[in-house]
Amino acid sequence: MIEIENVKKSFGSAENVQQILKGINLTVNNGENIVILGASGSGKSTLLNVTSGLERVDEGKVIYDGRDITALSDRELTAFRRATVGFVFQQYYLLPDMTVDKNVRMGADLAGNSEYRKIIEEVGLADKLNKYPRQLSGGEQQRAAVARALAKLPQVLFMDEPTGALDEATGRQLLDYVLKLQKERGFTLITVTHNENIAKTADTVVRLNSGAIVDISRNISPKGAYEIGW
Ligand SMILES: Nc1ncnc2c1ncn2[C@@H]1O[C@H](COP(=O)(O)OP(=O)(O)OP(=O)(O)O)[C@@H](O)[C@H]1O
Ligand SMILES: [Mg+2]
Repeated sequence: MIEIENVKKSFGSAENVQQILKGINLTVNNGENIVILGASGSGKSTLLNVTSGLERVDEGKVIYDGRDITALSDRELTAFRRATVGFVFQQYYLLPDMTVDKNVRMGADLAGNSEYRKIIEEVGLADKLNKYPRQLSGGEQQRAAVARALAKLPQVLFMDEPTGALDEATGRQLLDYVLKLQKERGFTLITVTHNENIAKTADTVVRLNSGAIVDISRNISPKGAYEIGW
């Protein structure tokens, strides 16, 4: 379980402080699929970054199964991220000079996971093992990024606009793979997006507006990637 307690975050200098997160409270159960929606600038990426330990909160706590990660040293926080969370961003961020196999293996090595090739198969890239990122389509690159993130067997997968750079068909396909993998493997999934349709695939939908949660709703029967609009 992740407990986010009264989390606040500001940016800017003393004369010009911008409060981006204004006291966020949220509980995420293990294995839950959460989508965070909100307009551009509402604080979605900031919330994702502080929840995953990529950035520090100014105030409040982020507690993973009883362990407050805001109290960790930088070193401990790095170790926490390495062991516990995976990331997928809009722009893939694969290493250009490494093949799919090597990119994913880097993730796997962090966790000593020797069975990472299975994950490459599960995202449908078994025949692209030796291709470099520039030889892949956007959707294939993003699937490789998902495989890399999952290769270290994270407890939580964070995705920030994962389909933002993909066309509809490719975006749906990516989402379909991620949803299937989540069902099989049971990791917690926290996705930030502008796409209201993607929210229909989540167990829980959180709406952010100007740095505050304005609504939390539950889907009784979450939809599949091919059952939603786009
Ligand atoms: N490192 C930073 N330094 C200064 N300001 C920042 C920083 N990160 C974010 N901000 C500001 O915080 C606000 C919220 O940014 P954030 O990236 O969380 O929004 P978002 O909801 O993810 O938006 P988008 O949908 O456009 O990605 C913005 O006004 C942004 O300019
Ligand atoms: Mg963002």
